[in-house]
This record gives sequence, C-alpha cells and structure tokens, in this order.
Amino acid sequence: MSRVALVTGGTRGIGKAISVMLKQKGYTVIANYGGNDEAAKAFSEETGIPVIKFDVGKFSDCEAAIKKIESEHGPVDVVVNNAGITRDAVLHRMTPTQWEEVIQTNLTSCFNLARLVIDKMRERGFGRIVNIGSINGQAGQYGQVNYAAAKSGIHGFTKALAQEGAAKGVTVNAIAPGYVDTDMVRAVPPAVLEKIIAKIPVGRLGHAEDIARGVCFLVADDADFITGTTLSINGGQHMY
Ligand code: CAA
Repeated sequence: MSRVALVTGGTRGIGKAISVMLKQKGYTVIANYGGNDEAAKAFSEETGIPVIKFDVGKFSDCEAAIKKIESEHGPVDVVVNNAGITRDAVLHRMTPTQWEEVIQTNLTSCFNLARLVIDKMRERGFGRIVNIGSINGQAGQYGQVNYAAAKSGIHGFTKALAQEGAAKGVTVNAIAPGYVDTDMVRAVPPAVLEKIIAKIPVGRLGHAEDIARGVCFLVADDADFITGTTLSINGGQHMY
C-alpha cells in the first residue's frame, strides 16, 4: 500500500511541483486547492492527481475534507501544509482583513490539518508533516508584517509539534523557501523583484522543484531521525 499524501495548495506553483514529485516517488497524492477551479482541472487532467477544494483556514471545511479523503484513500500518512497567500501592504496601510486572511490561510491552516490527522498518525506510529514557511518568516520583509508573522509562526509551530510527535513516529519539519519563480513572486513589483534577485548569491530565482526535492527528502520513511528542523532552500539569500 502506498503512503497517502495531502498537499494543500497543491495544484499550482510550489505545491504543484510537490504533488507531482511525490506521485513520481510512489505516493498516493491528493492535491487541495482553494479557489482556482480552472487551474485545478487542468492540473488533474495533466497529472492524474485527484483534487479536492476546501478552505484550509476553516476547521469545519478541513474536517469534512479529511473524512472524505480517509474514506476514499485511507488514513493520511503525509501532510504538506503548503497553501499560502500574500496581502502585501505596509503596516500603516494594512487592513484588519489583510492581516486576518493571511494568518488564517497561512498559519491557522497548519493547526487545522495537523489537528485532524494527528490522532490517527499517533495511533499508527507513523506520520510526516511538512510545513512550508518562508525566508520572509526568518528575515522579515518590508510590506509583509502579516505574512512574516504567519510564516514565523509556522517555524515555532513546527518545533513544538515535533516534540509532541517524536515518541510516536510523527516527524514535523519546515521548509523555508526563498524567492521561487511562481505567480506569487511574479506579482512583486518588477523593480522590487530585480533588487531581490540581485541579493541571491546563486543568481536566480528558485524553481518549484528545488522545494519539492526537500519535501520528498523530509517525508521519506527513513527520514525518521529528522524532526523539528527547518530546511532553508533559498539560493544562499539568507543563512539562518
Ligand atoms: N525595502 C525598503 N524600502 C522599500 C522596500 C524594501 N524591500 N520595498 C518598497 N520600499 C519603499 C519604496 O522604495 C518606496 O519608497 P519611496 O516612497 O521613498 O520611493 C516606498 O517603500 C513605497 O513603495 P511602493 O511604491 O511599492 O508602495 P506601495 O504602498 O504601493 O507598496 C509594498 C508597498 C506593498 C511593500 C510593495 O513595495 C511590495 O509589494 N513590495 C514587495 C513585498 C515583497 O517582497 N513581497 C514578497 C512576496 S513573495 C513571497 O512572499 C514569497 C516568499 O515567501 C518569498
């Protein structure tokens, strides 16, 4: 029986690369998405990976989705909390809605999904949770107090839950991607992005596959001694 993996935000960008690479490695992958039906349909047709639409920021929606996945595929062995949004603005112009949406989607989602799979993972003595943080959660970023707070929160969440899961075979790790060539990064004003790329020692934006390789490494069955860590994949932009 292949391991069952749920990738949130798994139909586009970094999440798409993670879903595809996990499938190539033999996992039964289910890719969540939040809103873009067209992209999800195209993704599913292209990859043969089933998709499931739900709001990762809402506990009751996540609960219904996990029940459905368990009934169709069996218990979830691997969760990749990848879904994330930006609502960039300087704090003196940021609205409460911009704050709440980012915290809900990027951080509360990690609680929601982990909470819903943790009991069965503990019972079975196996689980892999990988949370996608960000270089901007490590270093901060102008215009992103909401996003940096959420991503930084992910890193603390990871270390605390890793301690709770360790004796039960449940590893919990984070990846902190740098600037990766996705729609999210391409939405940064070109002049700002140019300055950011100039500060990446490797001299380019990351590829989504650079991050996916890290996920595959961390979720492997024999990665059972790696827990509570953050793997920075950022072309040398920030050494933490
Ligand atoms: N550092 C210092 N100053 C900066 C800055 C920075 N990184 N970015 C912008 N500024 C300055 C500008 O130079 C400008 O200064 P002047 O008025 O003196 O010219 C001032 O801030 C206002 O800039 P804008 O005209 O852009 O103002 P705005 O209010 O329209 O937008 C902003 C501000 C929303 C922060 C916008 O600059 C922006 O979107 N910046 C990019 C933020 C960013 O990097 N987001 C990352 C998204 S990708 C991601 O999050 C993925 C990941 O995990 C890595």
